[in-house]
Amino acid sequence: TKDWNGIDQVVLRNPQGASAKVSLQGGQVTSWRNEKGEELLFTSSKAIFKPSKAIHGGIPIYFPQFGNCGSLEQHGFARSKFWTIEENTPDLQPNDFNAKGCVDLLLKPSEEDLKCWPYSFEFRLRVLLGVDGDLTLISRVRNVNGKPFTFSFAYHTYLLVSDISEVRIEGLETVDYLDNLRQRERFTEQGDAVTFESEVDRVYLRCPNVIAVLDHEKKRTYVIRKEGLPDVVVWNPWEKKSKSMVDFADEEYKQMLCVDGAAIEKPITLKPGEEWTGRLQLLVVPSTFCSEQ
Ligand code: BG6
Repeated sequence: TKDWNGIDQVVLRNPQGASAKVSLQGGQVTSWRNEKGEELLFTSSKAIFKPSKAIHGGIPIYFPQFGNCGSLEQHGFARSKFWTIEENTPDLQPNDFNAKGCVDLLLKPSEEDLKCWPYSFEFRLRVLLGVDGDLTLISRVRNVNGKPFTFSFAYHTYLLVSDISEVRIEGLETVDYLDNLRQRERFTEQGDAVTFESEVDRVYLRCPNVIAVLDHEKKRTYVIRKEGLPDVVVWNPWEKKSKSMVDFADEEYKQMLCVDGAAIEKPITLKPGEEWTGRLQLLVVPSTFCSEQ
């Protein structure tokens, strides 16, 4: 199907009525809904959906650079490129096909891209909507030939929350982080959970593979499972930064929180023929379910 600006997108559905939308622009998940039709990802009401423009919302992919520490545009080019659908891809794991909805996308560098980043890669993204309404993203980056290359990566996941002041992240306690608001200085998380009362822009390093984001008001917990992604970015722009972003409404920071599975501290190097896989699974459970575990 096409979205409202005519950009191709794929809609995945499971028999229970959950759904996900994946835009070929950016290879980006732009919506994920539960079986009641409730949206679970944030997208700014001011997001600009047009070719070559990164969307503030959903799950943009940051590749091959995180932030602006490098020669490329902020967060790399993958999120602003047009991806293609790949038919008949080989199986990854037998369990993947138990899921009811699945799409495979492919990004390869154009001649123009090779001028900015002269490496031959194939980036395959599989998006799966599971029987429990869970959403899995599997990224496989392959060095096709030529010279070795190095990249950073993040699934920049905009979770929709009811009130940022009532949200807590569990799983990052005692973990070290780099604070982007303090010249990437290194600190250790002291709290028993991460909570929010001002702008936060951090890269937590070598984190556990399961992180929980508890939305107290909605009595809903996002469970984030990751593999091949040691780091976790936590970002909320808060009031001042929100006002400086043209494609983001002033008050929207209250309804969103980015928690990214990422590989940033130690960038990935691939020699010719080598492949890297980074996997993220998102699941929503009622908060009561979590506390009983
Ligand atoms: C986060 C960064 O991952 O992305 C922030 O840590 C940045 O520093 C944010 O502001 C959004 O970036 P962009 O380029 O989508 O506005």
